[in-house]
Formats: sequence, C-alpha cells, structure tokens
Amino acid sequence: MQRPWAVFGYGAKGSDSPDGGIRVATMVDSAPHMTAEEFRRHGHQVVDWVADYWSGLADRRVTPDLPPGAVAARLPAGPPADGEAFDAIVADLDTVVVPGLTHWQHPDFYAYFPANTSGPSVLADLVCAGVGVQGMLWATGPACTEMETVMLDWLADALDLPARFRSSSAGGGVIQDSASSATLVATLAALFRASGGAWREAGLNRPYAVYTSTQGHSSIEKAARIAGLGDGAVRTIAVDGTTLAMRPADLRAAIEADLAAGVTPALVVATVGTTSTTAVDPLDEIGPLCREYGVWLHVDAAYAGAAAICPELRWAHAGLEHADSYCFDPHKWLLTGFDCDAFWVADRTELTRALTVLPEFLRNAASESGAVIDYRDWQVPLGRRFRALKLWFVLRWYGVEGLRAHIRAGVAMAREFADRVRADDRFEVVAPHPFSLVCFRLRDSDASNEELLRRLNESGRLYLTHTKVRDAFTLRLAIGAPQTTPGHVAAAWSLISATADAL
Ligand SMILES: Cc1ncc(COP(=O)(O)O)c(C=O)c1O
Repeated sequence: MQRPWAVFGYGAKGSDSPDGGIRVATMVDSAPHMTAEEFRRHGHQVVDWVADYWSGLADRRVTPDLPPGAVAARLPAGPPADGEAFDAIVADLDTVVVPGLTHWQHPDFYAYFPANTSGPSVLADLVCAGVGVQGMLWATGPACTEMETVMLDWLADALDLPARFRSSSAGGGVIQDSASSATLVATLAALFRASGGAWREAGLNRPYAVYTSTQGHSSIEKAARIAGLGDGAVRTIAVDGTTLAMRPADLRAAIEADLAAGVTPALVVATVGTTSTTAVDPLDEIGPLCREYGVWLHVDAAYAGAAAICPELRWAHAGLEHADSYCFDPHKWLLTGFDCDAFWVADRTELTRALTVLPEFLRNAASESGAVIDYRDWQVPLGRRFRALKLWFVLRWYGVEGLRAHIRAGVAMAREFADRVRADDRFEVVAPHPFSLVCFRLRDSDASNEELLRRLNESGRLYLTHTKVRDAFTLRLAIGAPQTTPGHVAAAWSLISATADAL
C-alpha cells in the first residue's frame, strides 16, 4: 500500500560523496509515519486485542502444539516494500503469533516460576514506549531517574528491607532487566572490592572465588564467566538434606580452603527461594560469616522476594541486614511485566566506582554537580527505559494490600495442592513449600514420573516443569498467574491424579 500523502523533502549526500556532502534539494517520499489520529484508533484496536486475548486464555491450550519451524514458515521471506494496512498486521497476530505462543498468563500455567503481568503494568509499558525516554543519565530523563529512586524506596518499605538499602542512606535501588544482570553487577562490584579497586584498571590480578549453594541459579556461573573468572571459580556449597538450604559450616570450610591456597574469596550468593524447590539459605548465619571474611554477600531472591510484602512471610529475609546487595524480580510474582528486577546495594559508591566510565560526550553539568543519580553507572548497558512507570502504576493500582492478596492467594493455593498430594499414597511432596511452588513426585521410578509429566503437558490443559531433588525426577507446580483460582488448581490435581491412574 503506497500512502497518498508522500511529499517533497530534502535528502543529504554522504560526506564521502564527490560533492563533499553538500546538502541538495531532491524529491523523496516522507516516511509514512502513523498520525496521532491513526495511533489513537489502532491503539484502541490493540488494547481490545489484548483484552480479548486475556479473556479467552482459559479456553486455549497452555502450550502450542506446533512443530519447530511452523511459525517461521508462516512468515514471508522478507518485509513488504510498501507499508501494509494496520488491520492486516493485527489480523496476523491471530493466525501467525497466537498459535505459536506458550501462554504464560494462562490460569493453568504452572511451569518454571510465574512471569505474571497485569493491566496497569501493560499500560505503563505503553506510556514508557510512547514517551520513548532514554534514562541513562539524570539529564536525559529526570523523571525517569527520580521516579526510579522513589519507587525502589517504596518497594524497600513495602518489603521492609533493611534501612541501608534506602536512597536516604549510603545505598539505594535500581531496576535491572533481570536477576541475572543483578548477579553480574554484584559480581563486578565484589571483584572491585576484593581487589582493593585494582580489578578496574588491571583486571583479574590474582585468583578469586565465588560461592553459592548447589541449588544456586545458573546465572551465578554465567556472571563468573562474563567477569572473566571462569566456571571453575564458582564453589558450590553443600545443602542440608531436608531444607535444601546452604550449609554455613561448609561455606566456611570452602572459604578457608581457598584462603589457604592463595585464592581470594570475592562473593557469596545466597538464595531466598531457590529455583528448584524455593529453599531459603540461612542469611542470619551466612551474613556474619561474610562480614568476618570481608566477602561481598549478594542475596538472590528472584522469585520469592515478592513474598516479603506480606509480614508473615518476611522470616525468609532474617539476616538480610548483612547483605551488600539484594534483588528480586517484580516481573515474576508481583504483577509487573518482564523486564523488572529490583536491585539494591548497601553502598552505592562501591557499585558506581566499579562500573563508571565517563566519555566526554556524556559529561553534563547535572552529573558534575554530584547532586543527581546517573543510573548508567549502576548497570551494564548505557541506555535504559522508563521501567519505573510499571512499578508506579502497579503499586498505585493494587496498593500494598492488593499485592499482598495476590501473594497470599498463591501461597494458599499451593498449600491446598500440597495437602491433596500428601493425602494420596501414590505421591509424595519432596521439599518444603513456603511460597507458591510445590515439588512432588509419584513414589515410583524416574521413568514413571517423566511419563506422567509428558502426558500432562501433552494434554495442553496445563503446563508443569520438572527438576531433580536429591537426584530424583520431580514435578514442580508453581502458582502465580493472575487468573489462577482454587478451582483451576483443584482441576489440575484431578488431571494429575487421573493421568497417574492411567500410567
Ligand atoms: C533464584 C533465581 N535467580 C535468578 C533467576 C533468573 O531470573 P532472570 O530471568 O530475572 O534473570 C531465577 C529464574 O527463575 C531464579 O529462580
């Protein structure tokens, strides 16, 4: 479709052109930008589409049943030469995209951890995209920067995090894209500290070690790799056989062994809510130990941190006052769409000294005044979106009590599900379930459990994933999608039970 309103414009010849880059008037079509009126109309169309998608989710399979390559095969070999009608693009969402979606917002999505979103979060993302601000410096986005500082303080209050993480102290919070990035940034700051700053100019001047439990997330190894330490620098500390939490005595022994071998302990990553089973490492023992050895303590609460919005679930943060940094993902269980990881440090100067690089083109009076935060120094990329809008919209729409209701509903449904599993002699619950994840298995071979999971997921009626607990194949049911109700979880159990009957 060639739009009718192409007009005369100006083109520029490149500076390496024979005429030395002199601008010349020429005839070109102007780009067919969407007008404000068109945007308004099509915007309503897209919001309607998303609302209909959400309303119809429960009637769909949770996972697609297309073979690999099927979505790519529905796309043309290349882009159109001339722009197309917006209606055609929206129509293709239903024919090309939706059939290939794993529906993470589906009420019967119980896989991995939730990555829930919500109306206010999506609408805030629309505003974020619309204003198109790059908040790398305070000067390039004063509202983006200042709202982020305040939102991270609000969240710290809502979770009752230690005072040292507030912006009014020496610390402060920042939004990272993911918990993996938070771990990477913590690793870099820890290396800066462990090397007495030498790492920044000279790189790794001697061997360093990172410690986490055998249940720590894979992003810790990845961060060590990116930081130049290599996987070999990551010590995986044994866990308690029942709680699956890190054993502090083993952590101490590993640190001592490294010191004796001339290796500098740089970082301990403790987890609140491990990925496999939501085990909680004992921060109140690990924290003082890190202090004793001067090792940076990062606490990764990617999924479970959200639970601390409920006072009765804050026990999992006991000892957090010893941490140098802490993160959780509102994009997992706090109704804020991906990407939004909330990351706090107790000493913002250590972090910014580790990461800052100041080229001439970023110099500006506000930065030089020292009175503003430039979040580019708190993360790996330079550019950053106005993600604080999502938190602002979500916190204001739900209120703290509304968010508590969401977390409490998930915890209660998980408890009910675990009770059903325990009441059935064929099954066992294999790990504590303090939050909204239940790990369970048939009291049978790994092969039977694998087959049970395969049949359940093949049905398309729900989606579960698995892990290994004490080397045994284990099913995980993680609750957190906004549309999930006790009725959905009861139906999920009926399906699991009936499928086990038919094995
Ligand atoms: C404990 C833990 N840490 C880190 C991550 C990685 O999260 P992200 O996708 O935000 O990097 C996860 C993901 O599930 C996790 O469970």
